[in-house]
Amino acid sequence: MDRQQVVLHMNHGMGDNSYAHNSIIQKKVMREAKGIVEESMMRLYTIIPIHCFKVADLGCSSGPNALQLVSNVIDIVHTTTCNLNLKPPIFQFFLNDLFGNDFNSIFKSLPQFSEIIEEKKGHKCGACFINATPGTFYKSLFPNNFLHFVHSSFSLHWLSQNLIEAIKLECFDLPLYDPTIEEAKEVIEDEGSFTLQRLESVILDWSTNIKEAVDDDNNNKLDLNTKAEFTTKFIRAALEPLLKAKFGEEIMDELFVRYKNKIVQLIMGVKILEFPTLIISLIKKV
Ligand SMILES: C[S@@+](CC[C@H](N)C(=O)[O-])C[C@H]1O[C@@H](n2cnc3c(N)ncnc32)[C@H](O)[C@@H]1O
Repeated sequence: MDRQQVVLHMNHGMGDNSYAHNSIIQKKVMREAKGIVEESMMRLYTIIPIHCFKVADLGCSSGPNALQLVSNVIDIVHTTTCNLNLKPPIFQFFLNDLFGNDFNSIFKSLPQFSEIIEEKKGHKCGACFINATPGTFYKSLFPNNFLHFVHSSFSLHWLSQNLIEAIKLECFDLPLYDPTIEEAKEVIEDEGSFTLQRLESVILDWSTNIKEAVDDDNNNKLDLNTKAEFTTKFIRAALEPLLKAKFGEEIMDELFVRYKNKIVQLIMGVKILEFPTLIISLIKKV
């Protein structure tokens, strides 16, 4: 197992710097993408009858977003099958992440999650089996032609680079890459296995992470320090485990104080610090 698979994970737990408390932007983007997921489900349903709907979420992490896709898919399929007067399918979800992911906390939240779904959908929703699939999505995780729908949010920008190589080079190389729309399109077309259905860019404000309920007007009134603090927490929740593994835990607080000060300087005079995300929908060619 390579080192990245062990040290790369989001900040665990429910603390102030945890991913669970600093992932509102990701949740909002998933909400933005719900229409596109809906469109794909509709198309899928009109092509093939599905008895057991198999869905994978690659890079599910833990915390409030880990079961968001499951909830969205159940919701969408429920509405679609009701509209088309079809029997609801059985669901089989495969939650994938690296071995270091806190799968246990997801499992612990399942009884409460199932209760909420049952309350909302009653008996009209098919049985739902939730499995964990630990491992890297850069290797084979499922048998061929096994899944109906594959989802991934805020995960594919993590590269497969092995950190040990980076250590050998005595430099810290962040294994991350955010492509432009054009680059993403080119890679998909060159690779050739998928037909591109949708490729859109959603732009949110970095300080969205402060509070879900903060509207645009109030957002603009927030002081620079508060904005910088929350931007820092967002970054810390995602990158701290990697940075800790390379530079040691003792410098983390100081590192992020300095980072926050740099952000304050950066956003001075900037009205909106844009946070762009690509939303991509693909159909596998047969
Ligand atoms: C920023 S989190 C996104 C979590 C969730 N999908 C969301 O939108 O909030 C990225 C997740 O991708 C996982 N990840 C990164 N590279 C991966 C890989 N090669 N295979 C599986 N998971 C990976 C990380 O461990 C992390 O939990």
